Amino acid sequence: MVRKVSMPGANALMLGALFYGSAIADEVPAVPAVVTQVCAACHGIDGNSTIPTIPKLAGSNPDYLLRELRDFSAGKRKSDVMGAIAPTIDAADLKAAAAYFGKQKSTSEPVLDAALAQVGKKIFLQGDEPRGLPACAGCHEEDASGSKRFPHLAGQHREYLTDQMQKFRNDVHMYPGATYMREVAKRMTEDEIKAVVEFLAAL
Ligand code: HEC
Ligand code: HEC
Repeated sequence: MVRKVSMPGANALMLGALFYGSAIADEVPAVPAVVTQVCAACHGIDGNSTIPTIPKLAGSNPDYLLRELRDFSAGKRKSDVMGAIAPTIDAADLKAAAAYFGKQKSTSEPVLDAALAQVGKKIFLQGDEPRGLPACAGCHEEDASGSKRFPHLAGQHREYLTDQMQKFRNDVHMYPGATYMREVAKRMTEDEIKAVVEFLAAL
C-alpha cells in the first residue's frame, strides 16, 4: 500500500528510500523507474527542472503530458531531444511518467521585475481585444494551471517560455495544433512577450 507523505523533508525521505532500499520505500509515494532512470536527469526527480531551457512538468495535467509524449513519439511534435527519447520508452512507462509528474507540485521562479509582471498579468487575463489579442487565461486558465487540452504555464522557466513563444512566432514551432498559438504570438510585440513571461514565471 502506497501512503502519501506530505510533510517537510518528504523529498529527502524519498531520495533516502531510493538509495537505501526497500525498508522505508513502503512509506513514500512510488517514483516510476522510468522517471528515476530517464526523465529525472533533465526534468528533475519531482518534475521541477532546474535547467532553464528544459520545461518543468510538475503540476501539468497528466492527459496533456501524455498527449505531448505521444506526439513526440509519433514525430507530430518536433523536438530533437524528446523526439529521440519518447519513441524508446514503452507506452505504459510514458503513462506512468505523465501520471507521476502531473501529481507533483510546481515551483515558481523568483520575481525579477514586479512592474513588468503587472503589465503581463493584464495581457494574460484580458488580452487586447481591439488588436485581436485574446486573453491567454481563456484557454490556459486564470491561474495558468492549464487543463487536459492546454499546457500549465505557471512557474515555468523564463527561457523555455520565451523560446516557445518565439518559435510560435517564427513558425518553427511544430506542434500539431499550434495554428492558434502562432496567430497569438504574431499579434504580440517583443515587449508584450517579455511581460507575459515575467508574469508567468513568478506565478
Ligand atoms: C536530455 C534531456 C531530457 C530527457 C532525458 C527528457 N526530456 Fe522531456 N524535454 C526535454 C526538452 C529539451 C524539452 C523541450 C522540447 C521542446 O523544445 O519542445 C522536453 C519536453 C518534454 C515535454 C513537453 C512539456 C510541455 O510543457 O509541453 C514532456 C511531456 C516531456 N519532456 C516528458 C519527458 C519524460 C516523461 C521523460 C522521461 C521518459 C523526458 N521528458 C526525458 C528534455 C529531456
Ligand atoms: C484558444 C486557446 C489559446 C489561447 C487564447 C492561448 N493559448 Fe497558448 N496554447 C494553446 C494550445 C492549444 C497550446 C499547445 C499547443 C499544442 O499542443 O498544439 C498552447 C501552448 C502555449 C505555450 C507553450 C507551452 C509549453 O509548455 O510548451 C505557451 C508559452 C503559451 N501557449 C502561451 C500563451 C500566451 C502567453 C497566451 C496569451 C497571449 C496564450 N498562450 C493564449 C492554446 C491557447
